[in-house]
Amino acid sequence: MNHALLEKNIGLMAVLIAIVISIGGLVEIVPLMFQAQVIQPVPGLKPYPPLQLAGRDIYIREGCYNCHSQMIRSLASEVLRYGPYSVAGESVYDRPFQWGSKRTGPDLARVGGRYSDDWQRVHLTNPRNVVPESNMPAFPWLIQAKVSAAEVHAHMRGLVRLGDPYTDADFASIAAAVDGKTEMDALIAYLQGLGKFRPKETQP
Ligand code: HEC
Repeated sequence: MNHALLEKNIGLMAVLIAIVISIGGLVEIVPLMFQAQVIQPVPGLKPYPPLQLAGRDIYIREGCYNCHSQMIRSLASEVLRYGPYSVAGESVYDRPFQWGSKRTGPDLARVGGRYSDDWQRVHLTNPRNVVPESNMPAFPWLIQAKVSAAEVHAHMRGLVRLGDPYTDADFASIAAAVDGKTEMDALIAYLQGLGKFRPKETQP
């Protein structure tokens, strides 16, 4: 009898559906916020150094995440192709994280050190120069603009507020780290740093 009432009252039905879905969502999401494994950095993980932090902003600005994920799933095919699968503790200083789900290009979670800086420079300037069949866009303008120390400083201050453990020495190092560097240098530094802190137990 009560059910008949519910079926005839679409407003009440909608409210109850929303409540049921919220409970389901909370049960899945809230425990994750407190699980040490998910919120604690993997051993050795540090917040991004100044130049890499600037490069990460450029990665986001240029929309690289529209074609590249940064999350290797724990499937044999992925581990064989890209390396040890990603764990949550590697991303605790990623705000916002770049896991993504669109893979027009390969996953970049462990691309750090896979190619030389020169290869990255040529590839970003025009991917066809090193991978003839590539359909990745060229980003030649990155060699023009210089990285702004003031912007990096402001960004790091913001991250400290969110709890990232930057030290006074990190702040003191900004000027020297970004002096004379182009956006291209910063982006390459970011790419070369990706995936360096994988925990031992996930290595093949
Ligand atoms: C329209 C999709 C697209 C966008 C946007 C894009 N890429 Fe790519 N990327 C690809 C494809 C496809 C490949 C594979 C062919 C190649 O190596 O060029 C690739 C390859 C790469 C590789 C080599 C990866 C490997 O393991 O061989 C790197 C590094 C890379 N991209 C970085 C970037 C960066 C940084 C940006 C943003 C500035 C970017 N990509 C934007 C499609 C894209």
